[in-house]
Order: sequence, then C-alpha cells, then structure tokens
Amino acid sequence: MTILGIETSCDETAAAVIEDGVKIVSNVKATSFISKKFGGVVPDKTAREQLKFILPVIQEALVKPVDAIAVTVGPGLIGSLLIGVETAKTLALAWNKPLIPINHLLGHIYANWLDNPTPPEFPALILLVSGGHSEIVLMKGHGQFKLVGSTRDDAAGECFDKCGRLLGLPYPYGPYVETLAAKADSKTKISLPRPLIHERNFDFSFSGLKTAFLREFQKGQDKVALAFELQEAVTEVLVTKFLRAAEKFSVRSLVLAGGVAANLRLRDRLSKNLRHVFIPPLSLCTDNAAYIASCAFFNYYPRSITKISADPSLDV
Ligand code: KG4
Ligand code: ZN
Repeated sequence: MTILGIETSCDETAAAVIEDGVKIVSNVKATSFISKKFGGVVPDKTAREQLKFILPVIQEALVKPVDAIAVTVGPGLIGSLLIGVETAKTLALAWNKPLIPINHLLGHIYANWLDNPTPPEFPALILLVSGGHSEIVLMKGHGQFKLVGSTRDDAAGECFDKCGRLLGLPYPYGPYVETLAAKADSKTKISLPRPLIHERNFDFSFSGLKTAFLREFQKGQDKVALAFELQEAVTEVLVTKFLRAAEKFSVRSLVLAGGVAANLRLRDRLSKNLRHVFIPPLSLCTDNAAYIASCAFFNYYPRSITKISADPSLDV
C-alpha cells in the first residue's frame, strides 16, 4: 500500500510517499524562512507561508499514485495544522481515497521503521523527546501506547531552545547549542542541576534547569562551557531516567524518537549505556511527513472527512 503523508504541525511543510509503511519513495519538506528571520515561530506569519508551500511540496512528493492519505491532526499550532488537515481532506474528497488522521507524537516513533530491515520488536519502550514534549512511552504493539512518564513543565527541546536563544545563537537553537558544546574541553567549571534525576518516577522537569542556566549566564560565564554543561545536564537526565524505566519494564526494544534525537551527545550516551537501542537516522529525527505516512500504514484507521479536524492539544 502506498500512502501520501502530510505534516504541517509546526513550521515545516512536508509531504512524503511511503510504500508499505517502510520504503521511502519521496520525502519533501519546505523549511520556514519566517522562523529564521524572527528567531522563532510566529504562528500567523508561519501559517501564511505554509499556505504558499503546501501545494508545491505535495506536487513534488507525488511521484506515483497513492492508495491513501495520512495527515497530522495534532498536537501543534492550530493555523499550521489546519493547512495540512484541510488540504488532505480536499485531496481525499477529490481522489476518493481513505484519509487517516495521525497524532504527530506517535508519528515520530515510526522514524524507526523507515528503511529499517530490522525494526523494533514489541513490547518497546520509547524515549520521545521533541520541542514540545519529553515522554517515556510503553508501546505493546502498533496502536497500543501507554504514557509512562512525561515532563512536568518544559520539554527537553524547549530547554535547549530557550537557553540557545539566551546565548545569542540562531534559530533553530538546539543544533547550534550542540555545535557550540562540541568546542568545549570536558573540564567545564559550571555545574547545572539534573532535575528529578534521583526521584523514582519517570517524569522530567526542565524549567528549573533553564532558570539555573540563566543565573550562570548572568554571571558572565563562558558561552562554550555553558552550552556544554547544558547538553550534559539534559542528556544525563534523559538517559538516566530512560535506563531506570528500561529496568522496570521488561521490553524487547528500546527506542529513541523526536527532534532532540538528532543530538549526537544523546545518541552517543544512549548507545554506550544500552547494548542495543534503536536510533532513527539523523535526517528522520526532526519533523517530516515520512514517519506520518509510516504511522498511518501500521495504524490504519481511516475516518470520514467530516470526522477529521485539527486538534492542537492532542497528547499520547
Ligand atoms: O520533533 P521536532 O522536530 O519538533 C517538534 O515536534 O517539536 O523537535 C524540534 C526540537 C527543537 O527544540 C530543536 O531545538 C530540537 O528538537 N533539536 C535539537 C537538535 N536538533 C533538533 N536539540 C538538541 N540537539 C540537536 N542536534
Ligand atoms: Zn515533532
């Protein structure tokens, strides 16, 4: 089965064609100029820009006929989501094809199924870290997701972004924090907290870390050392809590997903601490439509177009 995926939950405008949930036929995305120009997502300006991108992006991705359409319905920015959702509904109606609504967060997980001859086996435990969410999810099978832990305040990605912005780095801040941190020697003199690391639950909290970072920044600390210690703090908490969850839940696979999965220090720490962990290729970590189409193949629940609408506050 060939599925066209459409993803517009944040500032990317993306379309992809995927065969049988695993083979990437095409994968196209237009990245926002607005976010770069303004140093962050400006929702109404971004949505207007996405209106211009959506049809050319779909046109470029449509290299062959498709059997169904999948679209991200949430969580995300309402104006951006509406563009993808309404375009997908229009195409489904015009072509008389099934339409599958997809939760963006669950979509991220399927980056691990794309072009992977040995995908994760169930039950699987997922560390899902994106700009808006930091969660540990138990996945007993396709469509069977249980939230094990989540952030009580800010997500790991947001922490990287806010601190990166403070350092004067360009948008999107996370990858630039990583680049700056790579310039440090490991004998940093700054010490940031590792929130909730000793608590015997699987929740996260990154807002206190952000505040501690601000205090050190205001002392005039070296920016490279700050970026390094921030990355150490975030990745240490994520890995420690994920390892603890892995001990509690006996699963067959441990899986990383979400935009922050692109962080090389996180990838490295996880692979050093776990004998085998599934980590998506760098190109599939941040938002794209390929994993949306893959998720739709494995969770094939088409709905009538009258029952599909954008839902900005959707969770796992
Ligand atoms: O999943 P994603 O593309 O969008 C959301 O669904 O939120 O994740 C974006 C987040 C941003 O916070 C971005 O700064 C972060 O992922 N990110 C990174 C890296 N690449 C992206 N954070 C740290 N290091 C990176 N290399
Ligand atoms: Zn995302």
